[in-house]
Amino acid sequence: MASEKKLFDKLENGEEVYLLTLTNSKGASVSLMTLGAGIHSLNMPDRNGKMADVVLGFDEAKHYVNPDFGYQGLAVGRWANRIRDAKFTIDGTEYHTPANQGTWTLHGGGRFSFTNWEVKELGDDYVVFTRFSPDMEDGFPGNVTMDIKYTLTNDNTLKIEYTATTDKKTVINPTNHAYFNLSGDSRKTIEGHYLQINANEFTETDSSQLPTGEISTVKETMMDFTEMHKIGDNIDVAFRATIGDVGYDNNYCLNNKEIGRLSQAAILEDRESGRRLEVWTDLPGIQLYCGGWLEKTGDIGKGNSFVTYRRGVALETQFYPDSLNIPSFPMKYAQPDKPFYTITELRFSAK
Ligand code: BGC
Repeated sequence: MASEKKLFDKLENGEEVYLLTLTNSKGASVSLMTLGAGIHSLNMPDRNGKMADVVLGFDEAKHYVNPDFGYQGLAVGRWANRIRDAKFTIDGTEYHTPANQGTWTLHGGGRFSFTNWEVKELGDDYVVFTRFSPDMEDGFPGNVTMDIKYTLTNDNTLKIEYTATTDKKTVINPTNHAYFNLSGDSRKTIEGHYLQINANEFTETDSSQLPTGEISTVKETMMDFTEMHKIGDNIDVAFRATIGDVGYDNNYCLNNKEIGRLSQAAILEDRESGRRLEVWTDLPGIQLYCGGWLEKTGDIGKGNSFVTYRRGVALETQFYPDSLNIPSFPMKYAQPDKPFYTITELRFSAK
């Protein structure tokens, strides 16, 4: 195992963004960014041992802070996904978050993902980023310190651990917004990737993609990924919980209902290269988003690659969207006497 730190780019305000690269004994590597404590690149072997970068991203920091480019690889918080009417209540106190999309909040309103995080520790096989978010930052209560620890193991697993302390009861729903293209070739869309999601149900949404509170079976709908099949098989089937030609951008209710128990959530495969990714989480939900809101043209990605429509698939582990407003949805609050913790593992292999 080895790690190194180097300058990546500067933000418009002159702040330096660094890349921390971890390389394991098999030559697989991950480069993490201080910007948004994000994943910049992830090199994993195919069935012949050939390495390729399996996440979308950019060569310039400025593209990462443009929300229209879809939070590529960034850590998202304090509350990932949507908050209806940009407000929520804890123990009788109403809190207001930025309505950064329509009348709702998306991905916490922005600051969490779009600032530089500090490097608290750098080991041979891990990096810990930390960020202090003051009470009422973007409307969220509590002085919160969050650490995000990334560990790369010798069996090609990237572990992402989120720990947060707070001095006031608050809500926390962190995720990572990497877009995977296991072919390593963003000229190809992800419609040919095979996917399985261990979820018999999904959360129903209205025309603004906000949860209605209802939970429905995936059976006999285009949402069904209980058996592994190609993402492209049904992505364009018209369905009440998808919008226009966006395709999948939906939360699945994982079969593991026990918050805090690490279980397999999804399997993604590119059968041409043989690369396979298993996503494991201790959270109850996962957002399947196939980059359907990204621009249809443009080659501003790393090395002129494409960060465009359907070139990557995001599998965002999370509490269900808006569960802070929907009491029947599972969630846990962060409390001063109970530090918040969640883990997601990205387990890569080739077959
Ligand atoms: C949301 C999408 C959004 C994307 C990038 C996903 O989590 O569900 O609607 O376009 O993030 O912000």
